[in-house]
Amino acid sequence: MTAPLLEIENLSVSFPTGKGGRATVVRDLSYRLDAGETLAVVGESGSGKSVHALALAGLLDPAARIDSGIVRFAGRDLLQLDPAALRDIRGREIGFVFQDPMTSLNPVLSIGRQLAEPLTRHLGLKGGALRRRLVELLELVGVDRAEQRLKQFPHQLSGGQRQRVMIAIGVACNPRLLIADEATTALDVTVQAQIVDLLRDLKARLGLTLLWISHDLGVVARLADTVQVMYAGGVVERGPVDAVFHDTRNAYTLGLLRSLPEGASGGRLQAIPGQPPDPAALSPGDPFAPRNCWATARCHVERPPLRQAEDAADGHLVAAWYDLRRILAEEARP
Ligand SMILES: Nc1ncnc2c1ncn2[C@@H]1O[C@H](COP(=O)(O)OP(=O)(O)O)[C@@H](O)[C@H]1O
Ligand SMILES: [Mg+2]
Repeated sequence: MTAPLLEIENLSVSFPTGKGGRATVVRDLSYRLDAGETLAVVGESGSGKSVHALALAGLLDPAARIDSGIVRFAGRDLLQLDPAALRDIRGREIGFVFQDPMTSLNPVLSIGRQLAEPLTRHLGLKGGALRRRLVELLELVGVDRAEQRLKQFPHQLSGGQRQRVMIAIGVACNPRLLIADEATTALDVTVQAQIVDLLRDLKARLGLTLLWISHDLGVVARLADTVQVMYAGGVVERGPVDAVFHDTRNAYTLGLLRSLPEGASGGRLQAIPGQPPDPAALSPGDPFAPRNCWATARCHVERPPLRQAEDAADGHLVAAWYDLRRILAEEARP
């Protein structure tokens, strides 16, 4: 058995609601990520994907409160570290790539300055060693004319190139874990595919462990080993990519798959009805129940726990009170 690089136990995060209460946006989240594994965390906007990632990196908005949880990274509990120790890990052992390269790169600083920052801060590189590493990094992520690029500013690069620079910053110090949050969301489809290929390539070359966060289940199959679907701050299904895509056990996961343009499930394009829930007004039941035409009476009153799916692949977990396999088998009957 491989050792987990990252292990999250019962993480809950809340925000004040403005009405004196608090809304729990990450709820009792537990999972592990093994060294070398690529885990994709997917779910609609607002499901708590970013907040959970920011929590583990100590980058939460000051209004947020971590109500419970342990985040073990390479044996240390990140939530117990002092800010300086956490800053040391961040950028060095854990790299980040965020969604929008235009807002993540500083428009008034050259590419070289921004790429140098983690190298200077964490590794103390300067002079010729720093320059060599800058060029090497840009070449690693496929940015052409590296020497020249270092002097340029973000607006002089295309969206795809800016995202490559962001990735170069993320991997600059050879982190053990790279967290990519909506790293391809702002890009058009062709560039998206190139960035996914780049990450796959880097993962193999640098031995990275990758936490890939996206609202888009579409790109996940090409990249991830394991998929974890989040809804209303919790995990509703998790398992090997193939199992989640082809032996789907949760109605929300199925909804995401059926709303993919390329129809992983027979080509019918169907949007999930209704709206994502308001975390400040969650009922005690399965949070997806109001949008789920197969919800049972129990779904409306009791939140289902995440547990091993019946007759499923190892590590294929589902939270559901209904039996989706049976429902789909009945639907398929003439
Ligand atoms: N700074 C904040 N203040 C208040 N609420 C927030 C803040 N950041 C996120 N939230 C709320 O937390 C929930 C989860 O957000 P987030 O993790 O960003 O979702 P996503 O899955 O799209 O990344 C959402 O309901 C969002 O409105
Ligand atoms: Mg997000």
